[in-house]
Amino acid sequence: MFENKSPIIIGSDHAGYILKEKVKTFLKNHNIEFEDIGTDSEEKVDYSDFGIKVANAVSKGKFERGILICGTGLGMSMVANRFPHVKAALCNHIYSSIMSRRHNNSNILIMGGRIISDSLAIEILKAWLDTQFEGGRHQVRLDKFDKIDFESLKK
Ligand code: RB5
Repeated sequence: MFENKSPIIIGSDHAGYILKEKVKTFLKNHNIEFEDIGTDSEEKVDYSDFGIKVANAVSKGKFERGILICGTGLGMSMVANRFPHVKAALCNHIYSSIMSRRHNNSNILIMGGRIISDSLAIEILKAWLDTQFEGGRHQVRLDKFDKIDFESLKK
């Protein structure tokens, strides 16, 4: 279980704080290193600040993978996917989590702390940590993300 032991950068806003603490306990119990960039309480903050920090670190290759949690997961997902090389997957069920690794090689897992129970979140996390990317035709599809010619699409 959990062959990949590479460290994880993790962040949340206030709406994801409680779930983030549960996720950290799970990671500790499974000897998976992590860096928590906050937030540190349920006091209101802007999810974008934390999403930017985590996505930037993954985008630059400082961390191979990350986890982000906000109320729905939507805001974190929107901000994280603006960063090059970030493939952030909003997974509020287990099947999405498995497929986000298998077919999409997701490098940031996003969950909605106000949508799913803690126990479901841990199952989603386990599936994400345990599933390998299949490569092959899925890599061909992903490569096209990096080759989008935005200039020619403007015409
Ligand atoms: C915070 O109220 C909420 O907007 C945030 O956690 C998230 O769900 C945004 O997408």
